[in-house]
Amino acid sequence: MSDSSSPQTPASGEPTDEPRRNFIYAFASVVIGGMIGAIPALLGLFSFLNPLKGKRKIPTAYAEAGESAAPDMVRVCSLDALAENGSPQRFPVIDNQIDAWNFTPDQPVGSLYIQRMSGDDLRVFNTTCPHAGCSVSCDGKTYNCPCHNSAFNLDGSKLTADSGRENPSPRDLDSLDFNIQDGYVWVKFQNFYTGREHKEAKQ
Ligand code: FES
Repeated sequence: MSDSSSPQTPASGEPTDEPRRNFIYAFASVVIGGMIGAIPALLGLFSFLNPLKGKRKIPTAYAEAGESAAPDMVRVCSLDALAENGSPQRFPVIDNQIDAWNFTPDQPVGSLYIQRMSGDDLRVFNTTCPHAGCSVSCDGKTYNCPCHNSAFNLDGSKLTADSGRENPSPRDLDSLDFNIQDGYVWVKFQNFYTGREHKEAKQ
């Protein structure tokens, strides 16, 4: 009488490969099932991380104001608002803030001084003191920092020690690039590292 509990042994009496085949099938099922299950998770992870690599986009409703100048320029004021040979005027800088995931329109990002010499000849400076980041003011003759007495000429150059005043600033005031377009002053507003001899923009 044959033993039904030993199906692996064929009539010939030799063992079969069936247990190994079953194991391979089960293993392949787990691997393939895992791969299929991982695809949605990978797609989700990709779409989550993609903004970090992608180009930051300004929503259409806010893009129009930036279309007439370079995208990194901010419109500050009309040229007519600046008197020729006038004193420097201070302006807040309002810009859209964009990071990988968020767009926040019309945020205060700093301030600047503009002095119009004549025509399109302007001097534009970031108001941040290059020494340690306080905000400079202007009395019409010089720029002055209230924190540690740095002072600057109206052309942005450091007042020298022989002016009778200690000046801890490591460099001149930080000038900003600008252009005039359609009667408006557009400025490439940047903040710079303080305490350094050379001007280096923060990213
Ligand atoms: S921060 Fe302006 S002098 Fe120190």
